[in-house]
Parts: sequence; C-alpha cells; structure tokens
Amino acid sequence: MDLVPHRIPRHVAIVMDGNGRYARKRYMPRFFGHKAGVDALVRVVRACADRGIEYLTVFAFSSENWNRPEDEVSSLMGLVLVAVQKHLPELQREGVRIRIVGDREGVSAQVREACERAERATAHNRRIHLSVAFNYGGRWDIVQACRRIAAAGIAPQQIDEALLARHMAMSFAPDPDLFIRTGGELRISNFLLWQTAYAELHFSDCLWPEFGEAELDAALRDYARRERRFGTVKADPVLAATA
Ligand code: IPE
Ligand code: IPE
Ligand code: MG
Repeated sequence: MDLVPHRIPRHVAIVMDGNGRYARKRYMPRFFGHKAGVDALVRVVRACADRGIEYLTVFAFSSENWNRPEDEVSSLMGLVLVAVQKHLPELQREGVRIRIVGDREGVSAQVREACERAERATAHNRRIHLSVAFNYGGRWDIVQACRRIAAAGIAPQQIDEALLARHMAMSFAPDPDLFIRTGGELRISNFLLWQTAYAELHFSDCLWPEFGEAELDAALRDYARRERRFGTVKADPVLAATA
C-alpha cells in the first residue's frame, strides 16, 4: 500500500530509543549512539517534511534521564550544544521551526541559550514544526499546567479539558495522531501522557540511529490502515445502504 496523502498524520510523536544498544552492538561507548541518534533525527525531520507531516515531536531527554550516570548526562548536555552548532543552519534553510518543550529551569544556562538560539533563528519557518522534548515528562507537563492555572487565580468551575490543554507545553499543536517508539520497548516512559489520549501507537524494533525513511514509511502505512473511532462506533456500510 502506497502512502495516501489524506492518510498522512498531521502530527507524529517519536520516542527515539535504542541509542545505547546501537553503540553496544558496535563495542562503542553510549555517547557514540547518542551522536548517531542526532544524525538520525536530522534525516527523519527531512523525511517527515517531504511527506507533508506538519508537526514532529521527539523525546530527546526525559525528566527521569537525570538518573543516568553523570558522564552520560553531561555528554548528552554537551551534545545539545554540538547539535545546534552543526545542524541549525541547514534546518533553518529547510523551513524547520524548532521549539524545545520541557522544564527549562532544570538545565544549564549554556544549554538553555543554545535551545533559545535555535528557536529564535527558526521562529518564522513554517514547513514543519519540530518540537524537541528535553527535560520533559508527561507528568511534569500536567503539573506545570496546573500550577500556571492556579497562579492565574482561575476558579475551579472554569477549569475544563480545553483550558488545561491551553496550559500544556504542546498547546500550539494538534494532538499527535501517530506515536512511534523505536528500540523495541512497549511503553510510553512518561512522554506526552495527556496529548496521546487518542494517538495510534506504533512500536518498532529498529534502534533509533538505524531508523530511516523505510521504517518511517512502514509506520505511516501501519497508521493508514488504522480505523480511528474516538469512542464512536464503526460505520456499518450494510446498515447505511438500507437506511
Ligand atoms: C534513547 O536511547 C536516548 C535517550 C534516552 C537520551 P537510550 O540511551 O535509552 O538507548 P538504550 O535504550 O539504552 O539502547
Ligand atoms: C525514553 O527512553 C526517553 C527518551 C527516549 C528520551 P528511556 O530509555 O529513558 O526509557 P526507559 O527507561 O526504557 O523506560
Ligand atoms: Mg532507552
């Protein structure tokens, strides 16, 4: 089945998992896998833009990833600086709008500034919205939204799903249609908990640095075959014909 334009998801969210195992397979340190993971991300952003996907949101560093060994955490922070330096000009040229979603307070001023530089430089781009979840957790997101609502003095009766959604980190985007996790694990690991309520889930055994156009297309074909019901019932063609 070829990719059908009207079946392309507007918003794809990806848990980019498997960098460490990719490195281990090659007898290399974990950092080697993370570096290869950045290159995979740039390839996938391009592939998504080419296929007409409007929003791509990727999980790059979770609230829980601080629990990793100190040298891995600091090498990941350093990689942000290198990645911005190396890839920002090309992403900017290609019409990618970059946003960083997550708890900015928790990261160093240097990393924060690099992220903000990427956001500023691409603020007028419209071809594809790339959101990088960094120091992000789905639970953190819900808590920070509640805190901002409380701080604004909003009355309990005025709080509904739409209001909460407007205070969440991804308020600028529609909810993800397709959630992909690479690396073979079948879990969400605290990614977009609120926003993925009705996302279609696709799990790939491919390790993230090896994920490319073929694996993306396999996920898109899988998505195109799904019937999304959002709690309603399946339309019955026989009943519809006799009605
Ligand atoms: C995902 O790859 C990247 C980050 C969490 C930063 P991992 O580092 O979790 O790779 P595996 O799961 O150990 O292979
Ligand atoms: C999820 O991967 C976070 C990112 C990809 C950034 P993890 O490797 O941290 O998740 P767990 O520990 O396997 O659940
Ligand atoms: Mg992992």
